[in-house]
Amino acid sequence: MVEQWHSPPRWAESDLLVTVGNQDGVSKALDMLLDPEDFIVVPDPCYSDFLCMLTALAPQIVAVGVDDEGIRPDILKSSLEKAISSGSTGIPKALYLVPNSCNPTGTNMSEERRQEIYAIAQQYDLIILEDDPYFFLQFNEKLTINENVFKISNNRS
Ligand SMILES: Cc1ncc(COP(=O)(O)O)c(C=O)c1O
Repeated sequence: MVEQWHSPPRWAESDLLVTVGNQDGVSKALDMLLDPEDFIVVPDPCYSDFLCMLTALAPQIVAVGVDDEGIRPDILKSSLEKAISSGSTGIPKALYLVPNSCNPTGTNMSEERRQEIYAIAQQYDLIILEDDPYFFLQFNEKLTINENVFKISNNRS
């Protein structure tokens, strides 16, 4: 199913971890990704339980404003520039996104927006943590497939 829908690069060399729900998977990914004091970028507003998960890991949080297509590329870029030019150790490591039917805003990221955010993530070496529990919860006759991180990365490699 992952291969069919997401075509991840080098899927044959990957391991699959079965978790007891989305939240468990996201929390395990955070455990692997973040050390205390690391910086992570989140949308503002952000899924509240994700913020609860972050509390345990005590990272620095960079909150980036959203519009009706999700996280705003202009604010993301200026926040990253600010973090870098402040000379602190705080260059963000990861970016958390809920691209489809975002909780709590209900927005969907357009393909163009995804491409823009992906390009910024590449430029600043940000790992994208894509939380996509609602992709299959669509009421159209056919699922509307937006470019996800894996597809964008495949198309660019
Ligand atoms: C964005 C987001 N991620 C994760 C979850 C949790 O998913 P699960 O119940 O499968 O752990 C939710 C549930 O509300 C959610 O809205």
